Amino acid sequence: MNVLEAMKRLDDMPENYKTMSINEMEERVRAIKERFGKRLFIPGHHYQKDEVIQFADATGDSLQLAQMAAQNSEAEYIVFCGVHFMAETADILTGDYQKVILPDMRAGCSMADMADIAQVERAWPILQELFAGTILPLTYVNSTAAIKAFVGRHGGATVTSSNAKNMVEWAFKQKERIFFLPDQHLGRNTAYQLGVALDEMAVWDPHTDRLEYKGDIKKVKVILWKGHCSVHENFTVRHIERIRQTKPDMKIIVHPECSWEVVQQADYVGSTKYIIETIQNAPAGSKWAIGTEMNLVSRIIREHPDKEIVSLNPYMCPCFTMNRIDLPHLLWALESLERGIMVNQIAVPPLIEQDASQALARMLALA
Ligand code: 13P
Ligand code: SF4
Repeated sequence: MNVLEAMKRLDDMPENYKTMSINEMEERVRAIKERFGKRLFIPGHHYQKDEVIQFADATGDSLQLAQMAAQNSEAEYIVFCGVHFMAETADILTGDYQKVILPDMRAGCSMADMADIAQVERAWPILQELFAGTILPLTYVNSTAAIKAFVGRHGGATVTSSNAKNMVEWAFKQKERIFFLPDQHLGRNTAYQLGVALDEMAVWDPHTDRLEYKGDIKKVKVILWKGHCSVHENFTVRHIERIRQTKPDMKIIVHPECSWEVVQQADYVGSTKYIIETIQNAPAGSKWAIGTEMNLVSRIIREHPDKEIVSLNPYMCPCFTMNRIDLPHLLWALESLERGIMVNQIAVPPLIEQDASQALARMLALA
């Protein structure tokens, strides 16, 4: 079976949803939401398309969505408009009586896919041997539940881009070194911000099972997993230079999933929530180039006609996997629910859930 066939198999949505008019789909979603009332909760990540976001009961970044899931005890069904790891997190943080649904199973995350549990289990004993029990694992929430569970079992915690600095500080109070998964850029940018020098960071390559580091290994304080976001890697120093040359009065704000070089040259760096709030609080007439996902940048541009806002990369596209969640899939998931069929339920196995919830709880206690 080739990749296209595999993707098709993961999507069982009936054909009729593909030909229905937008008006009809919107009407139907509205009516179903009305009928379900508080029994249904639709959280939406800021990177989701407008056609879906318009029906979200709450929107947020990954930390806010995790907090909302943990706090919501009344919804029986959580139809998650985001990507797979977020729906898993919601399932871990909600009660057994609450069911989580991802409208399209193909809504994964290329970064989360860059670390699988077998690779992590292989890396750990090698690192333990090299650093003799001095390492604490931390994982970005953009990772599988199995990796969160691994981290939880070894005393570590999850982080999001909103709290990475606090969590890395916390980790250094527990152990001398940290093992940061799976986004090398968020790990490097955060540790550097906290005063860890680049030559105190090594990179773990899961494909060769080797630590990439030149120098005295005793100096290493942070081990970065060699993963990245395939959306944020599309912002480069050349994009920054272009803005500096053509619009010298424009401020550049980027997400910490961008590379260290980009972050160093930007004027501001922060999570999705930080970017939204910084633009909201900026004076009318101010000029901004934003380095993050395009659905969000387009929405920010529309919401701030009094400011000049562009994408830092003029040829940027939305996150391909976030975009999998669309109006037809949302409607299909909801109509199936009404018929008592749970399509695409996300159910983390209990043993994984137990350990992963420890990693999440350590983060939520500090957030
Ligand atoms: P935040 O929502 O934490 O800013 O993360 C962005 C992201 O990549 C979500 O997939
Ligand atoms: Fe994953 Fe990057 Fe898309 Fe976020 S933006 S879901 S990290 S691929």
